[in-house]
Amino acid sequence: MVKRNVELAEEILRLKRQRNAIILAHNYQRGEVQDLADFIGDSLELSQIASKTGAEVIVFCGVHFMAETASILCPDKKVLLPDVDAGCPMANMITAESLMAKKKEFPDATVVCYINSSADVKAESDICCTSANAVAVIESLDTDKVLFVPDQYLGHYISTKIDKEMILWPGFCPTHIKIQAEDIVNRKAEHPGAKVIVHPECRPDVIALADEALSTGGMCRFAGRTDAKTIIVGTEVGIIYRLSKENPDKKFIAASPKAVCPNMKKITPEKVLWALQDLAPEVRVREEIRVRARRAVDKMLEVGEVDQEIASVS
Ligand code: 13P
Ligand code: SF4
Repeated sequence: MVKRNVELAEEILRLKRQRNAIILAHNYQRGEVQDLADFIGDSLELSQIASKTGAEVIVFCGVHFMAETASILCPDKKVLLPDVDAGCPMANMITAESLMAKKKEFPDATVVCYINSSADVKAESDICCTSANAVAVIESLDTDKVLFVPDQYLGHYISTKIDKEMILWPGFCPTHIKIQAEDIVNRKAEHPGAKVIVHPECRPDVIALADEALSTGGMCRFAGRTDAKTIIVGTEVGIIYRLSKENPDKKFIAASPKAVCPNMKKITPEKVLWALQDLAPEVRVREEIRVRARRAVDKMLEVGEVDQEIASVS
């Protein structure tokens, strides 16, 4: 088995060079996929890397909207999603048609879409944001009324940090809602003195119990700088692999073992190999939609540098 894994990794490396490819992996990917990646990061970091890479092929180990965003930014590159069925259920909770109808109800609102959305929805939005720069993006707007789609919980969290009217789309992440306030209370009782970090896709009562609400990239930076030796992590459990690898002297406890994103787990080393062999499945956005979606993504990139993570809750 070990020999097979080594051979697989060697073949992936060989093909990667031959294809002039780069492998990007989101922080929630399986450990064995993270180990194959050139870069591991959150949605903002990975889209920034995609926008700058000189590689001709991007193998995106993440979910569909992430590969789509890379394709929006790099139309001349081939963007591969090793499992084309790896979608994001939250992104699927809104369509361009339903957003267009909502915009008619609130014609004076600026439309901000979370990056966890389809290219069609981005094309109907004024500006995009990720969990790492959401507050900075909305603060940068010169309007006081925002229609925020599709994550009601990230939207609610932002509304506690800024003084603007926020109209929230009722979407949510089915993985993050599995983390309950009770889980945080129980983990804190089991690990007195531990710090609690949660993703802003969590419910408000969970965020209220945390020391910090951070993007996944923000969590990785927090883990490196904190003096705490035990950290309770309220997000998808895949991130624990990276956190533990980068901080062997610290202990990371999943707030809930139920917080597993089945779509993120669809990518495997074998599928990465097949994607490089076949140069498929490719994700490409129709040019007419891409140009409009790109405006929203570019506006975000002008605002959001990696370190503009969401400020501490406490
Ligand atoms: P990050 O941008 O914080 O990595 O979040 C992406 C995501 O899908 C969270 O569920
Ligand atoms: Fe989508 Fe939630 Fe999975 Fe992130 S964790 S990709 S928001 S379903």
